[in-house]
Amino acid sequence: MGSLSEIYSKLPDSMDDLPPPPNAEAVEQADFRARHWQSPVTGRLKPGSDAHKRAMAEMFRDTFNPYRPSVIEWPKLAPETLHKIVSLPIWDIAVQTEGKARLRMAAYAALVDDPDVKDAISRNAWEENRHKEVLAKMVAAYNIPMAPEPPYIEPKDAEWAYLVTGFSECVDSFFAFGMFELAKRSGFFPQELTDTFEPIMQEECRHILLFANWLAWYRATMPWWRRPYFELKVWAVWGFLAYERISLVRTVDDKGAVHTQDNNFTVTGTKDVANIDITLPDFMDLCLQEDERRFAGYDSRLLRPTSAPFIARVLRGAGRCWEFASEAVKANRR
Ligand SMILES: [Fe+2]
Ligand SMILES: [Fe+2]
Repeated sequence: MGSLSEIYSKLPDSMDDLPPPPNAEAVEQADFRARHWQSPVTGRLKPGSDAHKRAMAEMFRDTFNPYRPSVIEWPKLAPETLHKIVSLPIWDIAVQTEGKARLRMAAYAALVDDPDVKDAISRNAWEENRHKEVLAKMVAAYNIPMAPEPPYIEPKDAEWAYLVTGFSECVDSFFAFGMFELAKRSGFFPQELTDTFEPIMQEECRHILLFANWLAWYRATMPWWRRPYFELKVWAVWGFLAYERISLVRTVDDKGAVHTQDNNFTVTGTKDVANIDITLPDFMDLCLQEDERRFAGYDSRLLRPTSAPFIARVLRGAGRCWEFASEAVKANRR
């Protein structure tokens, strides 16, 4: 694979080369544009068609938010809040996930022939790199102790690696939307901090919107004889993700301290980010509402990811049944 900058598309290699916004109004406009997009094309956007593919790539290009990580002002935190943030078991995994996503998307983009799709996935890789940069600045600003990063190895099977990253983002982002809203509502973290992460949350929404549409386009345009093998691969990716989420990740840093990272933090960490007690079904409800809200501004003819909302509905249903059954048992005992 060539240098990443070759496949980062038309965006500058260094994010600080992005032109600074002229004023606060421009920042607000960019934020609005990142959340709303409508294709000027009329009629159906059939997956696999040129119109659908172009709309997907245009959406991704037009909704780009040109914020620069180096100018983010990290708010001064009260010692108690700082302690809460430093001790969240997510920072190593967050940085490494962004690093892996950047590499995997760039590696896959390098294989894509279609210029529109190549451009969109390269931009996605670039944005993952920017996320990593934002996290690096935050880690430095708050002195968060980090485990050393493992080497980022170019994947042998770039399609597999892209599928793992794409589906993983679909699941993580969906639950992160709910958790982020919960953290906001509870006021557990200062508003300046949640405001800082807000554009990143929306950016993940765009990423999974792109992934869902790429997947539909890819399925529709691949030769029929590749399809069974591809679908097996998709099932294997889900199996892999389930296995990965069962395990916690433990690493030891250069000072000998053990770092335990939680792959399921977006679901299990609600108590760590909010002082609100929320039941599992209510949390699933919140995730579903937030998911809908974040996608609402984009052309409804573009496909939305469906797997994580489906999992959430199943969990919500099971949780409500459990609540009903335990209430019935309690009432019987009285
Ligand atoms: Fe990211
Ligand atoms: Fe992403």
